[in-house]
Amino acid sequence: MRVVSGIQPTGNLHLGNYLGAIKNWVKMQEEAECFFFLADLHAITVTNDPATLSANTREMAAALIASGIDPDKSTIFNQARVSGHTELAWMLFCSTPLGWLDRMTQFKEKSGKHKQRASMGLYSYPVLQAADVLIYQATHVPVGDDQKQHLELAREIASKFNHDTGQDVFTLPEAFINGPAARVMSLRDGTAKMSKSDPSDLSRINLSDSNDDISKKIKKARTDAELLPSEMEGLENRPEVRNLINIYAAIADEEPQTILSQYAGQGFGTFKPALIDLVITTLSPIRERFIALKSDEKMLDTILGNGARKAQNEAQKTVEFSYKALGLLRNKLYC
Ligand code: TYM
Repeated sequence: MRVVSGIQPTGNLHLGNYLGAIKNWVKMQEEAECFFFLADLHAITVTNDPATLSANTREMAAALIASGIDPDKSTIFNQARVSGHTELAWMLFCSTPLGWLDRMTQFKEKSGKHKQRASMGLYSYPVLQAADVLIYQATHVPVGDDQKQHLELAREIASKFNHDTGQDVFTLPEAFINGPAARVMSLRDGTAKMSKSDPSDLSRINLSDSNDDISKKIKKARTDAELLPSEMEGLENRPEVRNLINIYAAIADEEPQTILSQYAGQGFGTFKPALIDLVITTLSPIRERFIALKSDEKMLDTILGNGARKAQNEAQKTVEFSYKALGLLRNKLYC
């Protein structure tokens, strides 16, 4: 089992990232060989400020370590330090039909009304994402539900490349999308995903939020005037309530039905304080570790540098195999 996944170093880690992806990464590092990276090359597909990007990359490394990713168990690095990601992406660009990229819903969402002004990087982003996982021969890719389409594309790209070259260059990776928090929704609108780019800070819980912030945001989270039902069917057409139950269940490592059975017939005056306690108990130790780690730039650079060396060794094997499969001549030094 080879596990690979990434996160963009844009701003803060939020509860959606933590419950949808990182909590699974922490579990998986106990049983598999894991590569986790900061997708800094993906972050430059939209407007970039260089100083902010460098600072965010180190901060996100601190956030992952604070969340439980152990650099002695997992390989942690930033994508830009491993040149093979972009080399392989070019080889994949050349065999990926444009029509496959035209289907990608995230490009449509992120490019908005002005598609002609969006960068080529934003359009071809899913191909770099395919290179990110194929380069390590990933078997499992733990992600939130919003990455499902990109992972399906990565499998198609891998199959086509293997077919076109007539060689088994790539392992076909499986998306690992797990549990009630695969899609954590905004606290203000149960039909929109919790996201770093939502203009309302009340819509998300950030890793850096104080206990008071967490309490305020959950108290203000949109709900309704009805009591909690005893069965999941009772949550139909109540997306905000379902979201809070899912968050509770994901943190408590329980099924949403178990949480409903516990709170059936109760109102939010009882449920919200319990959720606040649970979120604070989980996030506050992570926040404390994060604050302690994020100012130690030297230590973070050492971890990222060491991780990149390990990653580069693995990545290079696939890069050379791919060049060879395409008939591209290389210096012996690399092979
Ligand atoms: P990113 O940085 O947007 O998100 C990182 C991870 O967090 C998950 N996630 C969520 N899960 C549940 N609910 C939410 N509201 C929520 N918001 C985010 C994402 O699904 C993701 O798992 N393109 C990727 C980064 C990337 C990548 C890769 C991931 C680049 N290369 C290769 C996997 C494999 C992204 O922008 O994730």
